[in-house]
Amino acid sequence: MGKSLMLFYLATILIVNASVLQKLPALNIDLVGTTVSGISSGAYMSGQIHVALSSFIKGSAIVAGGPVGCTRGYLMYSTTECMAIPQDLNIKSVDETIDKLNKDKKIDDISNLKGAKSYIFAGLKDTIVFPLNGVHLQDQFNKLGLQLKTVYDIPAEHAYITNSFGNVCDFKGSPYINNCSYNQAYETLNYLYGGQLKDSTKAIDQNLFEFNQQNYFSSFMTSLYSSGYVYIPTNCADGKTKCRLHINFHGCKQSVEVLGKNYITMIGINDVAEANDIIVLYPQIVKSPIFPFNPEGCWDWWGYTEWNSMLAPTGYYNLNSAGLNFLSKDGLQIKSVWKMAQDLAAGNKASQQLEYEQEQEQE
Ligand SMILES: *[C@@H]1O[C@H](CO)[C@@H](O)[C@H](O)[C@H]1NC(C)=O
Repeated sequence: MGKSLMLFYLATILIVNASVLQKLPALNIDLVGTTVSGISSGAYMSGQIHVALSSFIKGSAIVAGGPVGCTRGYLMYSTTECMAIPQDLNIKSVDETIDKLNKDKKIDDISNLKGAKSYIFAGLKDTIVFPLNGVHLQDQFNKLGLQLKTVYDIPAEHAYITNSFGNVCDFKGSPYINNCSYNQAYETLNYLYGGQLKDSTKAIDQNLFEFNQQNYFSSFMTSLYSSGYVYIPTNCADGKTKCRLHINFHGCKQSVEVLGKNYITMIGINDVAEANDIIVLYPQIVKSPIFPFNPEGCWDWWGYTEWNSMLAPTGYYNLNSAGLNFLSKDGLQIKSVWKMAQDLAAGNKASQQLEYEQEQEQE
């Protein structure tokens, strides 16, 4: 390698390392109308944050998940009633959990959910989160008045589904991305945004940014990774075009700590986003063996971020609920992710302020 070429490579590496954003850019986003999606623990988180912040979030895509509040803060229910033995689910107890959060104003008023949209996917061959969990979610969301699209007929194992990358459709294992000749990224977003989206185009590598997530967690109990990612389509970068925000939550064993950028770049969402001016936030979880008890790097859907969960760190033997804060607007992870969304949308407030001032001057 010639010396100048070598220097060029070194310079490139330095630039790449320096490219971790210390602050999220303030873009032109209206947070009302935000949509979310996720798989597995990220699916459960998508439902939770949709219900917690229903005055802003108007759509969710839930891939291999189940009803919101399914575990009621008990780790033991996560693997049983909410994954492998959904036929035993105590539906009344789940309904009461949501009612209580609503009455206590720990979540946005559930009346906001009427008419909001949700896409529910359960793979026919899912042997981790069994398909009946999706039906339980469908029943819950029906009761809450959401509009639903359900997809239950694809012979998929436990995975995010693509038409372009991953293992064969009924394969069980890492990276939990399966090719079932079905463009789930497009189908979900197109449904949530009213069926008018343009076809996917090729995402642009330079539009994917790593950002410092450490600004966003109040304590190690949050279990966030040091970095998160955000995809900003070319049209959205200058803040002139009003863009939409979508937040995607990875599943267990799928964070960048485990898969590198494979999940973020291969599930196909960025390709849809580039063509349709959708900014995509990918918050990231870190694995944590004991405190908090999150060895697989999952989003919190059973209460591991709650201090009560420490009473029995291995959790399985903890017969007490960790509490329900993790389901609420004040849940450590929901609060952190929403702060990221607010920072990304800060350019909108600025532009509104500017328009207001211009109007004042004209008068
Ligand atoms: C996806 O699966 C289809 C059907 O099995 C196959 O024809 C196609 O080549 C696969 N694509 C990739 C990228 O694996």
